[in-house]
Amino acid sequence: MKNLHEHAVWDWPLRLFHWVLTILVLNQFATAKISGNAMDFHIMGGYLIFTILLFRIGWGFAGSQNSLFTNFIQPLTEVKRYLYETIVSKQRKIYYGHNPVGGWASITMLFALSLQTITGLLSDDQIMFSGPLAHRFSENIVSAATTFHSANAWLIIVMIFFHIFAIFSYLILHKNNLINRMINGGHMPFRANLKHTKNLSVRAVVVFIVSLIILLMMLYLA
Ligand code: HEM
Ligand code: HEM
Repeated sequence: MKNLHEHAVWDWPLRLFHWVLTILVLNQFATAKISGNAMDFHIMGGYLIFTILLFRIGWGFAGSQNSLFTNFIQPLTEVKRYLYETIVSKQRKIYYGHNPVGGWASITMLFALSLQTITGLLSDDQIMFSGPLAHRFSENIVSAATTFHSANAWLIIVMIFFHIFAIFSYLILHKNNLINRMINGGHMPFRANLKHTKNLSVRAVVVFIVSLIILLMMLYLA
């Protein structure tokens, strides 16, 4: 039987990562807004985000073709060409994974979320809640991390807004449903099989276990 993974644009671990990330990020904003005891769930959600972001970094090296950083981090000349073709010549090359702009947007979002998670580990609200590493660092560092954590949260909201705006623009202007693809994996063009799909599930489990071990080590050493 043909391996189904060979045809999907997005492999299942990346899709699972994306939707779990979406739920967890919403949890982070909701619990921070509710505050009080809900902050217990903020810290717990924070540990999960820490784990899955580590997973995503690992998956950028061990995943299938379209999940690999080398596949979607394109040089600036490609970005310019893509923008020119989209806006001026209107003869876009079709991309099945991230296009050059989407690739950089994804990396920027992952980077901002990583900074948010790291500063969360160092944050302290001076009342009840602090990240597990806060007591390890000087007051100045903790205070700077807490300020950054509050400010960067706004930047993340803006990024999510543009992200969802871009996805719906593709749907409405180009009749290109990227959302379905992120749910069911989509389909590569005829005969264009996806590379690096052998032992996909085994690789995903290994990368996830390593990420979990790093979380546990961080909590143990905190
Ligand atoms: C992407 C992940 C995260 C998001 C979007 C997020 C978002 C937020 C927001 C919006 C606030 C409220 C800031 C304010 O009151 O001005 C907050 C506070 C806080 N977060 Fe996070 N957070 C994340 C991850 C984490 C992690 C991993 C931890 C620690 C395990 C953490 C610990 C805290 C603490 C201790 C506070 C209270 C600090 C304060 O009062 O400013 N957060 N977070
Ligand atoms: C908290 C909310 C969200 C966050 C933080 C988020 C984050 C991300 C990230 C980091 C990526 C890059 C995937 C990777 O390579 O790792 C991505 C891709 C994607 N996201 Fe989201 N996302 C959110 C909500 C949504 C929602 C609500 C939708 C659907 C309406 C959506 C649809 C997509 C799609 C279709 C892609 C693939 C884009 C492409 O084809 O290049 N996301 N998202």
